[in-house]
Amino acid sequence: MNIAEIASTRHTCKAFDASRRIDAALIDQLRTLLRFAPSSVNSQPWHFIIASSESGKASIADTLKANFAYNEPKVRNASHVVVLCARRELDDAHLASILAQEEKDGRFATPEARTGQQNTRNFYASLHRDQLQDAPVWMDKQVYLALGSLMFGAASLGLDACPMEGIDCAALDQALGLEEKGLRSVVLLALGYRSAQDFNASLPKSRLSADVVISEI
Ligand SMILES: Cc1cc2nc3c(=O)[nH]c(=O)nc-3n(C[C@H](O)[C@H](O)[C@H](O)COP(=O)(O)O)c2cc1C
Repeated sequence: MNIAEIASTRHTCKAFDASRRIDAALIDQLRTLLRFAPSSVNSQPWHFIIASSESGKASIADTLKANFAYNEPKVRNASHVVVLCARRELDDAHLASILAQEEKDGRFATPEARTGQQNTRNFYASLHRDQLQDAPVWMDKQVYLALGSLMFGAASLGLDACPMEGIDCAALDQALGLEEKGLRSVVLLALGYRSAQDFNASLPKSRLSADVVISEI
């Protein structure tokens, strides 16, 4: 399948077949997609929690009961659920750990290259932290890039998926102890295989026409 076919045939799965599990080799590929997702100045301000056990999925599903009950069965019946988290702080220790990793991975041929990268990243971190004061929003944007990459990758592997913003982030943060880890939940992606109750699988896709959303200059 070419990428246009994947984009136009994938859909948001509204009901999963609880009896079907995703093969470990495919999950490994998705883990790689998450780890290699691009982010502004390679900031990687994220952490991804993959729930595949019944207890792991239940701890997420329980937080949806109160206000997002329509999403609860998706979490319970999916094979795997990814909790995409952002860091609570864009702190210097995190920035230093990225620089150290880049150095270890052989990114810097000279000390000047290392300093240049450090300065560029610090500039953006300071811009969002101190000047614009929108660091949480900036970090969320990076997390959503990882979500998009994960969704497209899952579709290309023939998996069904349901992204969910209909979640209680505060309850989820508490259930998973995310605050203590310096994290906060942003969005979920349930993964698995559709069941016969997935009404969205047979609905036609609907998007605004190409001339409305794309222009060429
Ligand atoms: C960030 C994001 C959050 C979403 N949250 C939910 C959700 O909480 N529950 C749900 O059933 N669908 C959710 N959706 C699915 C959208 O409604 C769906 O992507 C959109 O209607 C387009 O349909 P399609 O994905 O089938 O092409 C979400 C989608 C995105 C991208």
